[in-house]
Amino acid sequence: MGESVIPLADLRYAAEVPVVPQRLREPTGLVSDQLGRPLHDLRISLTDRCNFRCGYCMPKSVFDREYQFLPHRSLLSFEEITRLARVFAAHGVSKVRLTGGEPLLRRNVEDLVAMLTEVRGADGEPLELTLTTNGSLLARKAHALKAAGLSRVTVSLDALDDAVFRRMNDMDFPVADVLAGIDAAVQAGLGKIKVNMVVQRGINDHEIVSMARHFRGSGIVLRFIEYMDVGASNGWRMDQVVPSAQVLDRLQAQWPLEPVAPTARGETAERWRYRDGAGEIGLISSVTKAFCRDCNRARLSTEGKLFTCLFATRGHDLRALLRGGRSDLEIATVLGELWGRRSDRYSELRGAEGTAVGTGERRIEMHYIGG
Ligand code: GTP
Ligand code: 5AD
Ligand code: SF4
Ligand code: SF4
Repeated sequence: MGESVIPLADLRYAAEVPVVPQRLREPTGLVSDQLGRPLHDLRISLTDRCNFRCGYCMPKSVFDREYQFLPHRSLLSFEEITRLARVFAAHGVSKVRLTGGEPLLRRNVEDLVAMLTEVRGADGEPLELTLTTNGSLLARKAHALKAAGLSRVTVSLDALDDAVFRRMNDMDFPVADVLAGIDAAVQAGLGKIKVNMVVQRGINDHEIVSMARHFRGSGIVLRFIEYMDVGASNGWRMDQVVPSAQVLDRLQAQWPLEPVAPTARGETAERWRYRDGAGEIGLISSVTKAFCRDCNRARLSTEGKLFTCLFATRGHDLRALLRGGRSDLEIATVLGELWGRRSDRYSELRGAEGTAVGTGERRIEMHYIGG
């Protein structure tokens, strides 16, 4: 295949090459979209591959041996990612989250972390660098990530019961190894560690209380996530969602909790703390209580497409600009325009009844864009 041939996997989702405006504009660090929302948070997917096959994200029926993942040359290089991160930072991004698929599958990921520590935000400060992982390789990687300058990690963990966990990751991966990964992250001093649990009725909702009991008093913040209708592969149904209000009821029946004020605007999780001082938990309720109003997150896919919503169908091909010899100022101008035009608020429009809205185009998948 010649260099000019675009791999099929690159064409899976609709994307357009942005037009570079005639008039270039220096970023001010203060972009704002159609709903007055700034740009604060950039999530970068490092690979569309994963060593797990969670049914709600990469069901084996779809992600089998034949599935075409992105070929290596489609991926943004670490240099390209760092260059884009600089442009985003100039527009106000102060937090970068590395995601996947499973980001620790990307070779030498710690080198990228080290490169990103050099980037400064519009305020001149270093970025907050975080990473979301399934924890399977964390025991091996935690120290190198910390040494490279990662601020903190978030580990996805859906159950403590080994049989339930093995069934959910569908790769027979033992829960003990993920727990060892979390311990390694604690030992390495990887900041305030969070654990994310996607709750699915009838699959792992009986694990809510045992997960809470395990992490109470550990300093680790457990967050319960409502199962969402991302992508098109997981066969999502509203009756599989356990509303956060019910999660809270089940926890309150064991330990009294009280709400905590949000740390930052646009936060995904509603915070609660145990009245007995055993720490806090989070509830991420994108189905029953959408948080689009303050959504300040941009997403960059593995091959350099910008998506302005987790439920987007259409991306903006920034890689084409990078590889087409465009300058930082040109790319910054494009980004300013794209963010300025943004009006996404999918979760709000979907409504709590779970009626999907859409254009008929294929929605991006979670393994492709990360959390
Ligand atoms: P912190 O900085 O630690 O608070 O991270 P975060 O909550 O911003 O990010 P994380 O990746 O931990 O998000 C947790 C989960 O929330 C994801 O796995 C998604 O399920 C969901 N989520 C995150 N961002 C969005 C979003 O913009 N829209 C929707 N609908 N869900 C989101
Ligand atoms: N609904 C909610 N969260 C999801 N994640 C993946 N798929 C879904 C879904 N359908 C979350 C995982 C992980 C992160 C990468 O994305 O829990 O924390
Ligand atoms: Fe599971 Fe995360 Fe891998 Fe998706 S990317 S299959 S949620 S471990
Ligand atoms: Fe942001 Fe889209 Fe999620 Fe709403 S649905 S919070 S706009 S990413």
